[in-house]
Amino acid sequence: MKKADMTPHFTRHILCIGAGYVGGPTMAMIAYKCPQYRVTIVDINPDRIAQWNSDSLPIYEPGLDEIVKAARGRNLFFSTDIEKGIQESDIIFVSVNTPTKTFGVGAGMAADLQYWEKTARQILKCATSDKIIVEKSTLPVRTAQAMERILFSTHNGVRFEVLSNPEFLAEGTAIQDLEQPDRILIGSRQTESGLKARGALVEVYANWVPQERILTTDIWSSELSKLVANAFLAQRISSINAIAALCEKTEADVSQVAKAVGMDARIGPEFLNASVGFGGSCFKKDILNLVYICRHYGLNEVAKYWESVIEINEYQKTHFVMTMLNAMFNTLAGKRIALFGFAFKADTGDTRESPAIYIATRLIEEQAELVITDPEALANARADLKGVEGKVQFVEDPYEAATGSHAIAIMTEWHQFRELDYERIYRSMAKPAFIFDGRNVVNHSRLYELGFNVYPIGKPALTRL
Ligand code: UDX
Ligand code: UDX
Repeated sequence: MKKADMTPHFTRHILCIGAGYVGGPTMAMIAYKCPQYRVTIVDINPDRIAQWNSDSLPIYEPGLDEIVKAARGRNLFFSTDIEKGIQESDIIFVSVNTPTKTFGVGAGMAADLQYWEKTARQILKCATSDKIIVEKSTLPVRTAQAMERILFSTHNGVRFEVLSNPEFLAEGTAIQDLEQPDRILIGSRQTESGLKARGALVEVYANWVPQERILTTDIWSSELSKLVANAFLAQRISSINAIAALCEKTEADVSQVAKAVGMDARIGPEFLNASVGFGGSCFKKDILNLVYICRHYGLNEVAKYWESVIEINEYQKTHFVMTMLNAMFNTLAGKRIALFGFAFKADTGDTRESPAIYIATRLIEEQAELVITDPEALANARADLKGVEGKVQFVEDPYEAATGSHAIAIMTEWHQFRELDYERIYRSMAKPAFIFDGRNVVNHSRLYELGFNVYPIGKPALTRL
């Protein structure tokens, strides 16, 4: 057995490849909770690493600054030297991105595993001692096997053990989710060395997570569980959004329906907020992945079932734009519209797959003039809409965004938007003034009293027209 050289006062050397939304916060938490380990995060993107080493971190996540500051330079390090990182570590987390393939077989559906495979090859090339490799990225079931095949392809005396340890953190609550996880899932081979590697990873988490929350399974169940968890969560949102559309037609109120339904202990109250649609880097990608796998095994009905979760989400975004168009006399041309929020949810600057991207693009096609405001996501919004021809402004101040606008469309449930002075906003807008609440976050009856025509999701519109 070959052992990595370790700095004497650290009992373990942990490496993470990929300093993104998952790798960064997860490793920061491990370093914060386990001063006895040395934790290094590497990335091929030098700008990202420079940001992690600076006062302004590359991602916004409540509570992240504090734990990074506490551990950085002590036992948490950010670096671009991937080769040295691999050589010096005994546990390597792989958290590189696995986007949906845009080309070739499975385009638009299957996971693009090129970064994943490159990383495996790089580990193989640089490793001079035994390693435990931990899949952190969400991957199609049986990817660990592909990783193993690459790692076992040459015999240089170095031994690898591949574990699956999917991350369940949600953006915006990442620190809380990492500190008090519902569960930690670790999948391994059921061989002696597989179980030993699993034990080593359990030991890492046991530094702060109660034993009964650390769940161990075989490797394939672990990989599949992550896809299924995301598919079930997304399915709840699509289910309530489908009912929201029905509520709008029947004068029922989706919030009251969700409350009544969620009080059934078997169903539960979480994740039943009707919205303009779900976004984020995971849900769509992971469901597509599940659908692709089902098709691969000839399970076409099963594939269709899960695909419909995404279809409802697409419908929800289209439906929102149609509501705006119909309400505003079937023309948006030349009208100024303020988009309140661009992030895919509150408390993050992340805009990947944000419904706001689709809605902004559609409104621009209708020749509306957009003014976008968001407390954290303006830089990403700018990048997302680059190349879209039309009139778009990006402003920090929501009051300025609203001034002169015909309509406000709320895209993200930022608490800031609840607390605005809507009387002042109403006065500054073109009349009749419209508000389309894509997140049901403002007080609809009060806004109606102020003079707004109010269009919530899944509730009767309050309008004077
Ligand atoms: C993660 C997981 O990897 C993904 O599978 C899961 O479904 C969602 O969360 P995330 O952390 O959000 O992705 O991705 P991103 O923020 O894009 O971070 C990935 C990082 O890996 C980037 O900083 C990128 O530069 C880096 N990377 C990518 C490498 O270091 N090497 C590569 O070969 C490719
Ligand atoms: C999700 C999973 O929650 C997490 O466990 C997994 O590891 C990664 O994917 P994330 O994408 O960060 O996390 O955000 P999440 O809080 O799940 O929200 C996803 C989307 O659903 C957001 O656009 C959100 O606004 C929307 N949503 C959520 C609703 O529209 N209604 C709800 O009731 C809840």
